[in-house]
Amino acid sequence: MLKPTHIQGVSLEDLAAQFGTPLYLYDGEKIVHQINALQQAFAAVPLRIKYATKALSSLGILRLIRKAGAELDAVSIEEVKLGLLAGSTPAEIIYTPSGVSFAEIQEAVQIGVMVNLDSLPLLERFGQTYGSTVPVCIRINPHILAGGNLKISVGHKDSKFGISIEQLPQILELVQQYQIKVVGLHLHTGSDILDASVFLKGGNVLFDAALHFPELKFLDFGGGFKVGYHPNDKATDVAEVGRIVGEAFQAFCAKYGRQLELWLEPGKFLVSEAGYLVVKTTVVKETPTLNFVGVDSGLNHLIRPMMYDAYHHIYNLSNPTGALHTYTIVGYICETDTLGSQRELNTVKEGDLLVIQNAGAYGFTMASNYNARLRPAEVLVWEGKAFLIRERERFEDLLRNQVTIDL
Ligand code: LLP
Repeated sequence: MLKPTHIQGVSLEDLAAQFGTPLYLYDGEKIVHQINALQQAFAAVPLRIKYATKALSSLGILRLIRKAGAELDAVSIEEVKLGLLAGSTPAEIIYTPSGVSFAEIQEAVQIGVMVNLDSLPLLERFGQTYGSTVPVCIRINPHILAGGNLKISVGHKDSKFGISIEQLPQILELVQQYQIKVVGLHLHTGSDILDASVFLKGGNVLFDAALHFPELKFLDFGGGFKVGYHPNDKATDVAEVGRIVGEAFQAFCAKYGRQLELWLEPGKFLVSEAGYLVVKTTVVKETPTLNFVGVDSGLNHLIRPMMYDAYHHIYNLSNPTGALHTYTIVGYICETDTLGSQRELNTVKEGDLLVIQNAGAYGFTMASNYNARLRPAEVLVWEGKAFLIRERERFEDLLRNQVTIDL
């Protein structure tokens, strides 16, 4: 795995000195490269990329993604609003909430985004309220078990997401009863899916269901492309997925009688590798069993290692050629927050900068103020220049919504 010292010619050490640590850094070129790669892979079909906003929703990133030609998948009204603030139009956004109240659906309809419904009661309410006046998408649960681990596998039969494919007759009944204008069918099977055939399997479920909906404009295959976190990890071959799924999609459209659009909702694939969390070594602590490296960050800034046992590659930016030793890198949170267990790193001393890779997706967006710690600044590097896109939090931010009471 490469251990970059520079992004687009800009030194990581300089950025850490300028903006401080811990610091989230994003390589804008990498994001655009990934968008282009997907567009090329699916060049044979009319493609729309709906970036999964939840992966990284900072306005600067959303703006860049839009500029590069991708649209948005939002899962909350707040994400919709962030997308609009970043310049997306309502028509570019698909809103795919899970288990929200009908009031939130109404708000989305008012804003004018495409709504993706994921339960029969919501579909019925939607039909009663809007009849055929508002085009809508339906999220299908395809009963496919796939994904990096069970927490991020969401298309299996026991998952809360979508309307079970076995309930297709009930869907059709409601659509018929209220004359609901279904223009899209959607599925998202899970995250970290390596095998191209899983995308085709999901596609086949959509194709079969789609024949029952004559007014379709698109089929949405969700996201879930796996990126390489571990040096030995394989990543999804998107060119292969594009070829296999694209071909099957075109064959389906011929059968359907009309050319539809194919939508994708990548999150990790677009932003994971573009992101680096730069942290500073606060202590090197030898115990009878382990060499700990403590850093000025922790599970409050990157929860993936603790939440999913995720591997994130870590390297010593300050001492790239020093002798290798085995370290366990831990955060400063008062709870076990191992960022990397038993890793070979060039000799680490206090003050050294470590870089945690693949931190772009579900890094900052899942960060918290646990232990009353502040969240890091974010910097986007674009065209060889560094842009601060989010200021480091200050103590006052912790107090902002608190109400002082006299007891
Ligand atoms: N579309 C829908 C409807 C989704 O629920 C998700 C992710 C995506 C697209 C994008 O999936 P991606 O391409 O990023 O795999 N926090 C976890 C991942 C949770 C994914 C939730 N849904 C992690 O850090 O691994």
